[in-house]
Amino acid sequence: MKDEKPRDLVIALRGWEIAPWIERFAKMLPDRQVLALDQVTDPDRIAYAISWKHPPGSLTRFARLKAVFSLGAGVDHILSDPKLPDVPVLRIVDPDLTGRMSEYIVLHCLMHLRQQRLYDRQQRDHVWGDDRFQPAAGAIRVGIMGMGELGQDAARKLMAIGFQVQGWGRSAKNRAGISMHHGAAGLTDFLAMTDILVVLLPLTPQTHGLINRALLQGLARDGALGGPVLINAGRGGLQVEADILACLADGSLKAATLDVFETEPLPSSSLLWDHPAVTVTPHNAAMSEPAAICRQIADQIRAHERGEPFVNRVERGRGY
Ligand SMILES: NC(=O)c1ccc[n+]([C@@H]2O[C@H](COP(=O)([O-])OP(=O)(O)OC[C@H]3O[C@@H](n4cnc5c(N)ncnc54)[C@H](OP(=O)(O)O)[C@@H]3O)[C@@H](O)[C@H]2O)c1
Repeated sequence: MKDEKPRDLVIALRGWEIAPWIERFAKMLPDRQVLALDQVTDPDRIAYAISWKHPPGSLTRFARLKAVFSLGAGVDHILSDPKLPDVPVLRIVDPDLTGRMSEYIVLHCLMHLRQQRLYDRQQRDHVWGDDRFQPAAGAIRVGIMGMGELGQDAARKLMAIGFQVQGWGRSAKNRAGISMHHGAAGLTDFLAMTDILVVLLPLTPQTHGLINRALLQGLARDGALGGPVLINAGRGGLQVEADILACLADGSLKAATLDVFETEPLPSSSLLWDHPAVTVTPHNAAMSEPAAICRQIADQIRAHERGEPFVNRVERGRGY
């Protein structure tokens, strides 16, 4: 038995119901076993781990593991395991997920541009407002931090509407039609020309707490929206929520849309819930169809077993 090549899957999740995932993968890969962590009796048969926030240390018993797949685009929840086996980590890059994230970014850029929250309040109070003028999208500079798969698609769609778009990343890159900045040296200029800051960065030791008071105070104050706006759909660990509240209080930030939080679910005691300038969504900016995720992982497994290299592989040293 030990000489047989391992090919079974273990699914290791926290916070999500496991049974539907086991069922989906079992349907997609009917020629092998798909098990929850506590159902595995022979760890040497496990070749692939499917993770969403797997319990740290729980994968060490799978000595013949070939890869760990993330059920999402982010991998911070995997790389934070100090006992993660030294095997390839693969993430989801999926047009369905990317499209959904762009919908969210476009929706919230337009919502701030067109002051929709103000009109919601006015409608609730039966007020026919005087402030009906809106700047054009072309007058607004959107700065995207994180110009990877998600940032680039959002940039294209924002530009199609007419927004001015610029990007910031870790390394120097050319992106057609977009003014690009990178690294600590490029950050000051990038911020100074940004009216709406869109954060689509991964959470790594380098990006943790990056969206803090000093950074937010560097945003443009002379823009057509009357003050800078923050949209974070990356990860909650990127932001310092006390600093966001302080910047909203002192006027260095006009408004914020937050999909991700330092603690999730967002505690009911958080001041963000009731702040009139804050829009809260429950970490669902881009939830891909489970079937699409399973299909992509199953295809990768079959391709790997035909001898093809893994794709969407994370660089562990870089953290994303
Ligand atoms: N809210 C949601 O529902 C949701 C859904 C999906 C994903 N997400 C989040 O979105 C993140 C981005 O996804 P993606 O697929 O676009 O990732 P990606 O393709 O890996 O792109 C990451 C981008 O971030 C930049 N970056 C990384 N570290 C940096 C640093 N220290 N300084 C400056 N730039 C840095 C990279 O720069 P380089 O170009 O130089 O490499 C790259 O442009 C994920 O990691 C996940 O956390 C959230």
